[in-house]
Amino acid sequence: MKKYLVIGNPIEHSLSPILHNHWIKINNINAIYEKKKLQDDDLKNIISDIREKKIQGINVTVPFKNKIIKYLDELSEESETTQSVNTIFLKGDKIIGHNTDIGGFELSIKNLNLNLNNKKILILGAGGVVPSIILSSKKLKASKIMISNRTKEKADKLKSLFQDIIILDWGEVPEFDVIINATSVGLNSDENLEIDFSRFSNKFFYDVIYNPAETNFLKLAKRFGNKTSNGRMMFIYQAFLAFKKWHNFEPQINNDIIKLLKND
Ligand code: ATR
Repeated sequence: MKKYLVIGNPIEHSLSPILHNHWIKINNINAIYEKKKLQDDDLKNIISDIREKKIQGINVTVPFKNKIIKYLDELSEESETTQSVNTIFLKGDKIIGHNTDIGGFELSIKNLNLNLNNKKILILGAGGVVPSIILSSKKLKASKIMISNRTKEKADKLKSLFQDIIILDWGEVPEFDVIINATSVGLNSDENLEIDFSRFSNKFFYDVIYNPAETNFLKLAKRFGNKTSNGRMMFIYQAFLAFKKWHNFEPQINNDIIKLLKND
């Protein structure tokens, strides 16, 4: 039986096993997908398990998307550019790090019929998924990408990967077309970003968080007359692209799949 894993810390709340095991089952694949909470010291050994073919594929989540890189043999172009890996597999005798968050974000934007061409994007946060959202937005031809993070130094570091981004002070909110919450604020439904967005309407507010389905960020945005989306489809599409890499075919995305993750 083939074995797949998602690794992170924390990992309890990951819905990746539900999604992948559903696709494994309905496509009659002899495999299992599990979640595993790791510490930094465990990363080396888990990669050895791939080399020894005890594990066929790994998804990587916070806080290891960058830390895992030094144990891998090669990176895909997307992983190289973002210095971020969320999908690992063995190709020949080489362990490859790949990044499906970029494609996942891009497909979710297309699914929303949202056109980022020539648009101003404001991203809140500078954590694990932000380099992928920046690269995706660049691919979709956004005209301006602005980053605002509570800890400004962390946003400044992103400048070494993407020279043309603009770093703002935390709380500074200039004109934008699309704003993306990529912070962890809102994972607990009583949390609030403490930023006043009341002067914006007819903009697009996107939250990478999908559980809860509607964060306070999205609730308030709607109240002020903006369009909104949570990150559920981004999550599904990144999993879809990882599954395709590992199993060499595209799994189904339909209402049953979306319902599996529905929490509203
Ligand atoms: P990691 O930082 O390990 O990659 P993440 O969940 O991807 O983890 O990122 C968390 C993001 O949420 C960070 O941008 C963090 O800001 P800091 O860099 O200042 O820590 C942001 N964040 C978390 N709690 C926050 C809060 N109360 N207010 C504003 N931003 C917050």
